[in-house]
Amino acid sequence: MAKAEYRAPKGTSDLLPADARAWQHLLAVAQDLFARYGYEPVYTPIFEHTDVFVRGIGEATDIVGKEMYTFDDKGTPPTSLTLRPEGTAPIVRAALENGLTANGQSAKVYYSGPMFRYERPQAGRRRQFWQIGVESLGMGEPTADAEAIALLMEFFAAAGIPRSAMRLLINTMGDEVCRPAYRSEVAAFIRGNAAGLCDECARRADTNPLRAFDCKNLTCRETMKRAPVLRDRLCDDCAVHYAAVKSHLDALGIAYEEDTSLVRGLDYYTRTVFEVQAEGLGAQNAIGGGGRYDRLFEMYGGRPTPGLGFALGFERTMLALRSAGVDLPAPAIADVFVASAAPELASEVFAVTQRLRSAGVPAEMDHQGRSLKSQMKAADRLGSLLVVFVGPDELARGEVTVRDMTDKNEWRVSLHGIEDQVRTALFERYLARDVAVSGTPSEGRS
Ligand code: HAM
Repeated sequence: MAKAEYRAPKGTSDLLPADARAWQHLLAVAQDLFARYGYEPVYTPIFEHTDVFVRGIGEATDIVGKEMYTFDDKGTPPTSLTLRPEGTAPIVRAALENGLTANGQSAKVYYSGPMFRYERPQAGRRRQFWQIGVESLGMGEPTADAEAIALLMEFFAAAGIPRSAMRLLINTMGDEVCRPAYRSEVAAFIRGNAAGLCDECARRADTNPLRAFDCKNLTCRETMKRAPVLRDRLCDDCAVHYAAVKSHLDALGIAYEEDTSLVRGLDYYTRTVFEVQAEGLGAQNAIGGGGRYDRLFEMYGGRPTPGLGFALGFERTMLALRSAGVDLPAPAIADVFVASAAPELASEVFAVTQRLRSAGVPAEMDHQGRSLKSQMKAADRLGSLLVVFVGPDELARGEVTVRDMTDKNEWRVSLHGIEDQVRTALFERYLARDVAVSGTPSEGRS
């Protein structure tokens, strides 16, 4: 075991090939789906000026108060920078800076990558974790809220999480018209019920009373169940908006539960918030969540511009898939292995492998001078469907031998045009496999 300083830092993990492929698979599912909904990719820097997060997420949140990786750059005077704990604030900063929503335009963007929060690590709670998210900017209508929720649910379904293993929670946070009075009411409730709350929640009466709904402490949860409910105190516009979001969800047949204590951990939310929780994940059961943030552009000095979106966590999505017993597809690493028992034919083996690769066939060969038996084991490990044997006798006749790794049948193939022959043989096997898996052939290779 390596010395502690040569291990990955606490709360971080390496994505080794199996996890990295799973991440790329989920990303591919997301990209395909998001493109159908009209979202375009955006990449923002991994760090931002600290104030982007302090302003956007809110000073009295756990993220800003306790969890940010903040450092000074080397400028004079030094500037405070922070590794992004989430993607929404950077996207709004970038949209404003680059005029994505200038002149009343709208924009639908998605992003993916690592996020950083200094949290106490546990299963599903990492200090570096991976998110995929979308933001719809400039859209204030409730159809946009329902669309984002529908998309998030469709993503999880496409990833393979059974609907019965997920709960969709929704709530409304109101807006600047109805929330201030409600905040004061909750603050008064906290002051009057401090005995049933932890010290931190009791202090929240003065800083950020709504955060008390987020506390994981069971006594606080019990106490906050008796707190005033915003849904009953919404202004007319927020009530109409919330009712419309629900009716769009109903029309789409998307089942949800209203959870009046769902406030989410970020202060930028207005009106609709939502979260998807998965079964079997313990305390860290939120696999994705989001909401509307109609005042965030103004916090950065922009014009009033509505916005909403969601982010989902890769690690928790994987935990949810595992807990539901779902295996992600594990495509072969090399569909074809080019093998030989004759070390002196190494350059011919290499040439055949390269020809297949150039023709688009995932092909591998041995680079370690291994025996034929070991090469066959390697072919098995890589999931190869076919092995191409390069031997002196066949080569003298301008041929190679191809073996089907499933039924062990072998046949000779002319070296001339080997690419087409191997591709055809592979295609037949993809087709047979797809029919066996789904009952219907898919288009080409999956
Ligand atoms: P969030 O709820 O803080 O929202 O994070 C979204 C998802 O990221 C969570 O549901 C969870 O799956 C994952 N996640 C969060 N923290 C961790 C962690 N420490 N370890 C592992 N996974 C984690 C946001 O980040 C908002 N920006 C979502 C949003 C987009 N709202 C509007 N637009």
